[in-house]
Amino acid sequence: SRRRARSAAAAPAAAARALRRVARFVERALPLCRAHTVEFFTRGLWQRLVAPPPDAVLEALRAAGPLARPWRRARAPRRLRAVNDDIFSSAFCENSEKLTNVHLFALAAKYYSLSNLGVCTPLEDVLEALKGDSEGATGIKPDEFMNNKKSHEVQVMSELVDSIANYCGIKQVIDIGSGKGYLSSFLSMQYNLKVYGIDSSSSNTNGAHERNRKLKKHWRAYQSRGKESLKSQSLEMANDRPVEHELNCKKINEELLNNANSLQNQGQVIIQDVVPSCGFTEMTALETNTETEADLVSGTQSHETKLSEEVLAVLNVLPVDAVEDFSSSHCNCGELCEEEKVQRKMISLKTKARKSSESNLYLPLTSCITAETELSDIITDLEDCMMVGLHTCGDLAANTLRIFTAKPEIKAVCSVGCCYHLLSEQFENQEECHDQVWGFPMCQYLKDKGWCCGRNARMSACLALERVAVGQMLPTESLFYRAVLQVIIEEIYGVTKSDRHVGKTFSKSSSFIDYVRRSLKKLELDDSKLPDSCIMDYYEKYKDRMNELEAFNMLKVVLAPCIEVLILLDRLCYLKEQENIAWSGLVKLFDPVKSPRCYAVIALKNQPCS
Ligand SMILES: C[S@@+](CC[C@H](N)C(=O)[O-])C[C@H]1O[C@@H](n2cnc3c(N)ncnc32)[C@H](O)[C@@H]1O
Repeated sequence: SRRRARSAAAAPAAAARALRRVARFVERALPLCRAHTVEFFTRGLWQRLVAPPPDAVLEALRAAGPLARPWRRARAPRRLRAVNDDIFSSAFCENSEKLTNVHLFALAAKYYSLSNLGVCTPLEDVLEALKGDSEGATGIKPDEFMNNKKSHEVQVMSELVDSIANYCGIKQVIDIGSGKGYLSSFLSMQYNLKVYGIDSSSSNTNGAHERNRKLKKHWRAYQSRGKESLKSQSLEMANDRPVEHELNCKKINEELLNNANSLQNQGQVIIQDVVPSCGFTEMTALETNTETEADLVSGTQSHETKLSEEVLAVLNVLPVDAVEDFSSSHCNCGELCEEEKVQRKMISLKTKARKSSESNLYLPLTSCITAETELSDIITDLEDCMMVGLHTCGDLAANTLRIFTAKPEIKAVCSVGCCYHLLSEQFENQEECHDQVWGFPMCQYLKDKGWCCGRNARMSACLALERVAVGQMLPTESLFYRAVLQVIIEEIYGVTKSDRHVGKTFSKSSSFIDYVRRSLKKLELDDSKLPDSCIMDYYEKYKDRMNELEAFNMLKVVLAPCIEVLILLDRLCYLKEQENIAWSGLVKLFDPVKSPRCYAVIALKNQPCS
């Protein structure tokens, strides 16, 4: 089966070839995705970067682009398969760098998607190749009581992680950036894996500890009910009585939800947005002219931030004795605070844990992971293990791969990244900083080329094309307000840069005038002498150009997957450059509409012949 797994992955040469092709196209498109929509009017971005009129652009994107029907079986039409990459470069004018042929541009964006490049390994092939005598799940199926983004992610990923762990013959899993511990909990509860969850946020680990303490008493009740539910489910399936089954599941669901709710009401459980939270908290603190890019991203992902009670309910199943809080009050990268104390605590907990017959353990730990982190400093009983990361933001995904390649005891890695705008880029700033480990680029080819995306382009890579394609709207009006505000700020106040932020003013405003006045206050600019009529003049002057902004953002959305492909292929090529890796691949794990950051970078080390 190892041979099978290997044949299912892209060969190193194929991955490198795909990377070079994508890089060539993205390079031509960089001026578009590096542009700030805040500066859309002040810098005349449309006139500078796009030749055709906005309506023609929108029309072409709808007709031919990724917003249109996907290619059947994710492959380009035959006539395009033989196409030379040169043709796509001609979507842009050689001299002016303007986008001239939108039809070609739209085809190119599809052509350079991961599925069309043929470098992804289907999840089923990976699972099939890894198949062994897996013990599998312990009987509680998450989809019985979970039906949302996080449960989708956790369910798919934990099955894969369990298969990899079995294949490698390991029991220990280190969940990097474990957050509230959803994945960790599932891996330990359902697959009896020995899981450590490491997160830099002490409030996350505190939360996990507190929740587990409060919910201990629900464990047995839940477990027996879970089994009951499974029994009745199979009976009902045999009797083909789906309606009753639904009712049965609903009952359990509601009960768990009530528990979760009551805890929330008592304020004992900190409910945090999960996946994009780190990204969005960061985004609100960006410098003024990046706020709109953040809006563009969050506008397509807003419901990601809603953590469902159902997911919370799943955490009810954790045994409490097994979990202790190792949090330090702050993240102090590189230094372990009270290390000895923590280690002693760990040993005592391990002993306790072994005695626990209730379920396997998930141990949340607080530590800030860097490329230099020694896991054995944090986990005293580190053994042969695998690293996993679900939506590890920015450099954390890159560092996970670096730690994996450097440490022989880490046998496998499965990492789904997110928040590409938080990546550190080696070639972004001119200052030399030789000893830093960068999040991008990782592979030799892009390093040799001195490749730089830039923050805005990386921000674009966070956009969710699939969601826009199924009808989710881009926040065009708020972006328009912000772009016109920028004109006012520059023309009336002479300000081009500010350390202050407009933030989420749009949603609080009742009109454009209200928006401008609130924003000026936030920027500490005096609006007392600015009459409403003057504000409205600006609005009137630009309102007919809102379609330019819409078309421009659509171009960015269409390009987003190409930039993500570049970042993911960089990671894959880095793995393929390493000598000790038997298998590495990119695997699409999630439904991108539910979970836009859906690709896992997976690798397995060479194992000594037995
Ligand atoms: C997007 S959240 C994902 C949380 C969790 N894996 C999930 O899917 O629910 C990313 C998490 O990584 C943590 N994190 C970010 N940088 C980190 C670092 N350098 N070391 C450890 N954790 C980090 C954050 O605190 C946050 O909880």
